[in-house]
Formats: sequence, structure tokens, C-alpha cells
Amino acid sequence: METTLSIRLREGTKESHRLAEQTPFIRSFFEGRLTKEIYREFLIQLLHIYEALEDSQRRHRAHETFGKICFPSLFRGEALRRDLNFYFGDDRWKETPPLRAAETYIQRINSLSNEWVEGLVAHHYTRYLGDLSGGQALKRIVAKTFRLSSSDGLAFYDFAQIENHSQFKNGYRAALDSMPLDDETIQKIIDEANLAFRLNRDVFASMTNLAESN
Ligand code: HEM
Repeated sequence: METTLSIRLREGTKESHRLAEQTPFIRSFFEGRLTKEIYREFLIQLLHIYEALEDSQRRHRAHETFGKICFPSLFRGEALRRDLNFYFGDDRWKETPPLRAAETYIQRINSLSNEWVEGLVAHHYTRYLGDLSGGQALKRIVAKTFRLSSSDGLAFYDFAQIENHSQFKNGYRAALDSMPLDDETIQKIIDEANLAFRLNRDVFASMTNLAESN
């Protein structure tokens, strides 16, 4: 097949993207119905997930394929910690382990980090390109839902070192397309990206369950 990895990722995950947009958690998020209690639990799950993803990048930053997209300017761990301090007002969140769905997601990232590093490209793409795309609309929604009067609580959406998102995304896609990958590996990466979307949907579902049990 002639098309590039970036195009194949976008085309090959279209249906997964649609399903993610339609989850009750994302819908209630967009409709401004999320409570602060649930939102901060969600940030804890994200922190655990990004810590795994960012550990894998520190470990493999010189890898000939995955290394091409290990940009520290994307790292979200620090921003998530800042937001968690803001929403909790103390550091209670530090003792909270991931829920089962996030744990499963983390285990997948860690096993790829040990066994199939190219597969991490799929997880990196699914989270960070999403954060740089639809994620930016969430920033305004969070600010409005929680009536935030400053940028406190919005660090997760703020990529301070990235001035122009669309320019950065073009560079990111060029980096994807410069990876020396054969067709079979590309197909495996698309499959892994669809798995990454599913693991995200499972985390969203665990948030909905938490909201309903409260
Ligand atoms: C209602 C929720 C969502 C909306 C409205 C939304 C919206 C968008 C939009 C408009 C784009 C295209 C941006 C562009 O071409 O520059 C995009 C891209 C993307 N989104 Fe979402 N999104 C949502 C949820 C999600 C979720 C939950 C994930 C993953 C967990 C995700 C992952 C991605 C990815 C990976 C891309 C990049 C596609 C590509 O260009 O290859 N999105 N999103």
C-alpha cells in the first residue's frame, strides 16, 4: 500500500475515534455535566497512564522509529501533577492507585516497552495527537464547567513549549512518515492504535461507573 503511516493511522482509527466521541463520559464532559470529583479522578488515571508512556519515551528516546516522536515538549506528567494539586488542594491524590481499566492500559504500554517498541508509536499517537486536536476544545469546556477564573487547573491542555499546534502536528506526521517500517508492521501499528482507543474507552467507562456509584 502506498499511503503513509500518518494517513493510515488517521483512516484506520476513524471508527474508533467516532466510538470514543460517543462514550457517555466524553459526552457528559462536552455537555459540561462532569463533577469536579469525577474530573479529578480522571486526571489521576491520566497521570498513571502518562507516567508509563513517558517512562517508555525516556527509555527508548534513541530508538530508530519510536525515538523520532519522543518529544519532551509533549510530556504531560508535570502538568497533570499541577492540576491535581489544584483540584485536591493537597497531595492526597499521590496515594491513589490506578483503577483496573487504567492498570490494564499501563500494562499494555509496559509490555510493549519491553517487547515491541514500534507498538508504542500507536499509543503515543492516540493520546498526544488527540490532546493537540479535540483536546483543545476540552480546555474551554473545563474552564466553563468549573468556572475557572485563571489558567489554574488547565495545565493539562497547555503545551507551553509548543507555539503553533498545527505546525507541530505537521512535523509530527512527517516524523511518523519518516519511520523505516514495512507494510506488515504498519498494519500492526494501526491495530495497536485501535486497541489504544479501546483502552481509552474502557477508562472512560470506568469513570462513568464511578460517577454512577457516587
Ligand atoms: C468528543 C470528543 C472528541 C472530539 C470533538 C474530537 C475532535 C477531534 C478533531 C476535530 C480532530 C481533528 C483535528 C485535526 O485534524 O487537526 C481530532 C483528531 C484526533 N483525535 Fe479527537 N476528538 C474527540 C475525542 C478523542 C478521544 C477520546 C481520543 C483518544 C483517546 C481522540 C484522539 C484523536 C486523535 C489521535 C486525533 C488525530 C487524528 C489524525 O489527524 O491522525 N479524540 N479529534
